Amino acid sequence: MCGIVGYTGFRQARPILLEGLKRLEYRGYDSAGIAIQCNGGVEVKKKAGRIANLESNIRPDTLNGTCGISHTRWATHGDPTDVNAHPHLDASGRIALVHNGIIENYQSLRTYLEHRGVEFKSETDTEVLVQLIGHFYSDDLETAMRAALRDVRGTYGVAVICSDEPGKIVAARKGSPLILGIGDGEFVVASDAAAIIQHMTQVIYLSDGEMATLWDDGFRTTTLDAVPVTKEVTELEMTLEDIELGQHEHFMLKEIMEQPVALEDCMRGRVNVQDGRIHLGGLAAMARELAQTKRLILTGCGTAWHAGLVGEYLFEDIARIPTEVEYASEFRYRNPVLNPGTVVIAISQSGETADTLAALREARDKGAIALGIVNVVGSTIARETDSGVYLHVGPEIGVASTKAYLGQVLVLAMIALFLGRRKDLSQPALQHYLEALDSLPEKIRQITAQSQEIRVVADRFKDAENWLYLGRGYNYPTALEGALKLKEISYIHAEGMPAAEMKHGPIALITKDMPVVFIATKNSQYDKIISNIEEVRARKGRVIAVATEGDTEITRLAEHVFYVPDVPEALQPMVTVVPLQLLAYHAAVLRGCDVDKPRNLAKSVTVE
Ligand code: M6R
Repeated sequence: MCGIVGYTGFRQARPILLEGLKRLEYRGYDSAGIAIQCNGGVEVKKKAGRIANLESNIRPDTLNGTCGISHTRWATHGDPTDVNAHPHLDASGRIALVHNGIIENYQSLRTYLEHRGVEFKSETDTEVLVQLIGHFYSDDLETAMRAALRDVRGTYGVAVICSDEPGKIVAARKGSPLILGIGDGEFVVASDAAAIIQHMTQVIYLSDGEMATLWDDGFRTTTLDAVPVTKEVTELEMTLEDIELGQHEHFMLKEIMEQPVALEDCMRGRVNVQDGRIHLGGLAAMARELAQTKRLILTGCGTAWHAGLVGEYLFEDIARIPTEVEYASEFRYRNPVLNPGTVVIAISQSGETADTLAALREARDKGAIALGIVNVVGSTIARETDSGVYLHVGPEIGVASTKAYLGQVLVLAMIALFLGRRKDLSQPALQHYLEALDSLPEKIRQITAQSQEIRVVADRFKDAENWLYLGRGYNYPTALEGALKLKEISYIHAEGMPAAEMKHGPIALITKDMPVVFIATKNSQYDKIISNIEEVRARKGRVIAVATEGDTEITRLAEHVFYVPDVPEALQPMVTVVPLQLLAYHAAVLRGCDVDKPRNLAKSVTVE
């Protein structure tokens, strides 16, 4: 949510900052801005709209310098206007600041500063912070920043420059990620590695409560109280190719198509068919303790929460562990009862979602074992868990989560098998699952190959403004996820629910114009879902079905069928969701929507 890029070194900062912002645009895209030290001052340009708009408004003879900061915004306080865009300046015009997060006590700080004659230009909470730094500033930016942050309540990732201190950037974080890229005579500070990878591969992850000061010839990391901190320098795992579109029109399509490879990467070294074993390095040391788990709580938001719902079926079915799934945003404030033997697993692609992080901290504070299922290596959730399993599905740039969902479900399945084998699961049963997992990537390739046929169906139904998605058992979360994908990128209203719930109210919505998507694969509940399809047909609903290859009966009942290969019931969520991702993608493209940057959304939700 919002992206920060800062650069100091020997090169011109402007192109590096603009390029970095474009790579971070998925974090927020309602306005953007840049500030560079030049001609003894700080020059700023900011514009509402996309980064391309900012870029086209920059005159070539401006913003020339080797030290600067920049920002792409997802508005919280104040409309997405030129004035509210970051960077913000202090009253003297010497200090410029970019900020991710929320300053909760901004109103009282603003009143305090206004009483001292400070005039504000914007409606943002962020301007309060830069004005406060300006208020404390005499001759040292670091000292002024520490003084200001002591008075601030809320969350921040910030980067600041001052015209009186050429070549210096001061950055700090609390609740909003910041990474330092370490080069040879040059440094980048960014909220995401995607803005760094093109220039350097060595990075430092700042932790909450830490500050970094960067010059063109060195850097120092400290706590907010100025105690020096030695940070580990790590090598970035991603490549530039991972975050580029390649031949694809959108990141979402690229990431859907990458799913077979993503699953292979996720299973590599973990699913061992020959040895008949699941190996999870992150959990090995705790395996005995985890097998004694009395109660499991899976928590996350959005798509990650849907993955958790699949996990509930997997853990109860395969590992026989009582499992609940909690919205992280509710769990954190509910004063949950966590008895000894409770294990909490936080699920998050970004590893930075504010609610999920807070839920994890709540679990740890109450003494539960806290595990993480996270994609972004080095992210806050990954670093704050007792242990965990990375997805290793590669960077996900499209705002709509696709390959991360499959990765999350796969990791949950692997953990369920890992623990299940230490309890009731027999070796032949485990072997059966291992073989099925091993063949999954190829089966998913068969589904993605149907993209064009799915597009035809999307075209037929794209103008219907209300859709229903229905599934049972393992495929109930698929119904929720299919509906979420459609609504977030195409702005069509869609509801997902357990198929049996339909007759308790939603059936009243069904008309001859309403598409109803059934996940009706061959499994223990097949006959039941066929009855639900009949109920919709009797009310003239337009039935689209996801069914198992070879099922001919379904063609009698559904107007359109997306066939998926047969897999064991517990693994079906990983195949049934794929045609629904493609259906949503094509519907959104055909409706002219900006698929990778849907309105009002951002990739990583680091505010409550
Ligand atoms: O990064 P996370 O997995 O923690 O993100 C959670 C949700 O914000 C995310 O899944 C969101 O629902 C996506 N836009 C869904 O496509």
